[in-house]
Amino acid sequence: MTDRSDFNDLAQSTAPGDGTEAVRRILGVAFEHAKGLVPRASEKAAAARHGKASDIAAADESGTATSADSTTPATMAGDEFELRRDGVSPGVWRLKWERTKAGKFECVEQFVCAPLEITHMVRDRNDDEWKRLVQFCNHDRRMRRVMVADEMLEGDGLALARLLRAKGLYIGDNKGGLLKMYVNQSRPVARARLTRRIGWHEDVHDPSRWSFVLPDEREPIAADGAELWLFDQQGSGHAKFASAGTLAEWQQHVARLAIGNSRLLFALSTGFAAGLCWLHPNIPGGFHWAGGSSLGKSALLYATASLCGPPSYRRTWLMTATGVEWSAAGHCDAPYLLDELKQAGNPRDVAQAAYMLASGQGKSRGQAAGGLRDTAEFRLLFQSNGEIGLRQFLEESREKSYAGQEVRFCEIPGDAGAGLGAWENLHGHADGARFSEAVQSEAARYYGTAYCAFLSSVVIERETLQREFDKMRQQFESAHLTEKAGGQAIRAATRFAAVGFAGEMATEWGITGWKSGDAVGAAKRMFTDWLHAFGGEENREPRRMVEQVRDWINANAPSRLADWRRKSDDHAPRTENQAGWRRPTKDTAHLTNDEQVFEYLIYPGAFRAELANGFDPEQVAKELSRRGCLEHDKARLMVKVREPGAPKPTWFYLITPAIKGGEDD
Ligand SMILES: Nc1ncnc2c1ncn2[C@@H]1O[C@H](COP(=O)(O)OP(=O)(O)OP(=O)(O)O)[C@@H](O)[C@H]1O
Ligand SMILES: [Mg+2]
Repeated sequence: MTDRSDFNDLAQSTAPGDGTEAVRRILGVAFEHAKGLVPRASEKAAAARHGKASDIAAADESGTATSADSTTPATMAGDEFELRRDGVSPGVWRLKWERTKAGKFECVEQFVCAPLEITHMVRDRNDDEWKRLVQFCNHDRRMRRVMVADEMLEGDGLALARLLRAKGLYIGDNKGGLLKMYVNQSRPVARARLTRRIGWHEDVHDPSRWSFVLPDEREPIAADGAELWLFDQQGSGHAKFASAGTLAEWQQHVARLAIGNSRLLFALSTGFAAGLCWLHPNIPGGFHWAGGSSLGKSALLYATASLCGPPSYRRTWLMTATGVEWSAAGHCDAPYLLDELKQAGNPRDVAQAAYMLASGQGKSRGQAAGGLRDTAEFRLLFQSNGEIGLRQFLEESREKSYAGQEVRFCEIPGDAGAGLGAWENLHGHADGARFSEAVQSEAARYYGTAYCAFLSSVVIERETLQREFDKMRQQFESAHLTEKAGGQAIRAATRFAAVGFAGEMATEWGITGWKSGDAVGAAKRMFTDWLHAFGGEENREPRRMVEQVRDWINANAPSRLADWRRKSDDHAPRTENQAGWRRPTKDTAHLTNDEQVFEYLIYPGAFRAELANGFDPEQVAKELSRRGCLEHDKARLMVKVREPGAPKPTWFYLITPAIKGGEDD
């Protein structure tokens, strides 16, 4: 039998249809297909590149698209495939020349699968992990895009067939790995990049071009001519983008309710600002709405969720630190909403999560084979809420909160102070409860349009945004901070300013329907409320250090500090686990017991381990000294004293009675 891939055989065959003419014909066909590999800006490739998978799906259904373009498979010697997108027999067909009994050659057609197009060669940011992007309509005629790793094209190709069947591709005859052969032969010119996180991506070779990658099979929101970035991550942790209703309806039914409600204006603006975290390193972090039950705190999060998706877009704190870490990574550059802090099981998880969320990096973990596994990376602006604040939560659970944590996580009172819970303007509703319910139910009907509209404008205005924001941030800071402001207040101010800015931009771009100035007004109001709750512009750590020392003295002076006056009194009660001494000051030593004022000599070991626990002892001593609560030598922050019974003087921290001063000295 003549082998059609053996051209010598075929050329010499005298059977009808064979001979040199047959060889020329086959080579001609192969040549035509090979031409298909040359870059050509076909309509279909362009549509795929600019993110219009729906156009392709529509073309599939209407049968108007052409099949001869760069996505058409190339013919390799022996096996030839044809993609028929329309006509009576759409599908991928294998064309095989076979000799009939009469000795003639005949083209036998084998149906491989429903129309399957290989549109892009895909690789990651480092040009590794090559894959192919294939698309087809599943059994429900819904367009599917599936990434096929090139390594699946090894071996018998069964893994590929299984994958595509699972995604709903109708496969006919796959004998001998025809499907694999077909995919392997297709090497489209169009390229795409692969990413495992959503959010902003710069082109690998041209950082001025930007795309916002959305989860699932959604098209990115991209600048003109940007690379096509494709999301390739399994699992359910990522943001649940989905839409219902139009932007105009969302504006009318949800955004409108924010007018006159500072907290709702602020919550929605914070949602928009999640897409602007790149403007300044101090923007990523979060806000925590704190306050009693039934204020409308959850309603604020439901409303924010409606920027991107349905109510299920919002998450709860009912997660481990690792759970928070991965779900945060799935919300990079998008609003991340965590409802009800009290649901968090383990306070240690909360503390870790708060740090992680704002630092933008998950924990580095080792892997069995050595080295570090990829850490989760995220850049986000989150909102959370709870009946209790973060600090109180940690304290109740005997975890320590640091000002660093608290500033990453600005706590704002959920109560607007107008007697209506979180609200100030009920828009005609009977009471706060009805209004909260209205916010929740409207947000569940109209959602998922505003954030994408916002991002589309950010892509266009990127350059000017940076300049405008820098200007606005300076104005915000000079209006709200004095020279006394510590780094923590300045950092927080940048985040509040960004929220105001994002809300104003959304208004300017016609997304919110608010008046110019509404959003920035709300940001100013929230900053003032936060500052008040934080305790002023000065950094909080120094205050916390002094508070801790004061609390220790109040709780332990009588039991842990021996009474200097009874040093030689054998009947004096024994001081267990002694941490130092207490004695009247020189000025009051002669007064009656009731009138005496005490100072405290603390052993350095006890000072470091207990009074300064969790802080740098040197910093604590400095702060005490600055406030007149510590007496010391010129050279050291301690004094040298011979304690009763000791052969020679040793060093002590000498805390003065000033430590007993008011809460805020
Ligand atoms: N401003 C309000 N005034 C009075 N009742 C309210 C107010 N806001 C909400 N409620 C009541 O509380 C219910 C829950 O609302 P929402 O979840 O938004 O409040 P919350 O502040 O998160 O409360 P919780 O801390 O208990 O979760 C509403 O269905 C409503 O009945
Ligand atoms: Mg709630």
